[in-house]
Amino acid sequence: MTFGSITPLQDGFGRKVTYLRLSLTDRCDFRCTYCMSEKMEFMPRSEILSLEECLLVAQTFVSLGVDKIRLTGGEPLVRKDMPWLAARLRELPGLRELVLTSNGSQLSQFAAPLAQAGVDRINISLDSLDPENFHRITRTGNLPQVLAGIDAAIAALGARRIKLNTVLMRGINQHELFGLVRFAQARGVDISFIEQMPLGETGLHIADSFCSNQELLAELRQQFELIPSVESSGGPAYYWRMAGYDTRIGFISPHTQNFCASCNRMRVTARGELYPCLGNEGRVDLLPAARAGDAAGLRECIMQAVAIKPQSHQFDPSQTQPAVVRFMSQTGG
Ligand code: 5AD
Ligand code: SF4
Repeated sequence: MTFGSITPLQDGFGRKVTYLRLSLTDRCDFRCTYCMSEKMEFMPRSEILSLEECLLVAQTFVSLGVDKIRLTGGEPLVRKDMPWLAARLRELPGLRELVLTSNGSQLSQFAAPLAQAGVDRINISLDSLDPENFHRITRTGNLPQVLAGIDAAIAALGARRIKLNTVLMRGINQHELFGLVRFAQARGVDISFIEQMPLGETGLHIADSFCSNQELLAELRQQFELIPSVESSGGPAYYWRMAGYDTRIGFISPHTQNFCASCNRMRVTARGELYPCLGNEGRVDLLPAARAGDAAGLRECIMQAVAIKPQSHQFDPSQTQPAVVRFMSQTGG
């Protein structure tokens, strides 16, 4: 098989894969109740891709037409040399967008070096503005530290390049909906609401806490003047604008508004497993080829994974069992 300068990765359903979510670690300083169990076992460090191996994997995806990479985790800033990787990735010809997902806990320190390295956008998780509730949800998190991280990110990148991600859950933080939106409005950043997904045995049962985005939208429309927007960020979110404000409200609705038909992404775990779908078990192991520095072998693996990309995920909010046994932090958020 030959690969020209750009060979678009296309799956069996005609979807082009142009977006890679690269998890740098399954570790995190938080233990969010919907993401992790209280006692998590993490992958042994010897099994985790080195940052040089991550770079080779990323480079290979970009050579196959991927033009957007999200660095994620766990918490990607657990890897202290992350800005080094970001700077190398930014130099890859063909990479249009380099973005990051973070819990914000270390952004006070890292936002400026990340901006310097050329990171285009940062998504920061924020599920509560009440320090006690924040601590309850994250089990270990400190709200003031995260708020300082958000402000540092705004200072370093500008508010229009920052988005907050919120998982709203019935009986847990649903009552904070308006407060979170007003917070985003006051800072001029976007905010997206992600429907809780049943990933891994976290101990938090989705059947008890699931809250649909349709319900949130209806609540928000009673309070704010929302205007539907046709804009897309190349992701699964549907956006609404707020009259008179920069802030956009996004809804990522894996349950109620299945977006699989336009899915353009694949995920690589910190251990080098390439998952063509978050909600299915199929995968291809990139670690041996990455460890051997074998770019041609990596290309073969990536093509194999594209070929087995399933048509859609099958999440069911009424179920009591997780849809897949992997935690979100293991596959990459
Ligand atoms: N359902 C929905 N979102 C989740 N995240 C982590 N686990 C889940 C889950 N089970 C979110 C985090 C973060 C993003 C990377 O993924 O809140 O914002
Ligand atoms: Fe960490 Fe993000 Fe999972 Fe929370 S959701 S435990 S911040 S990886």
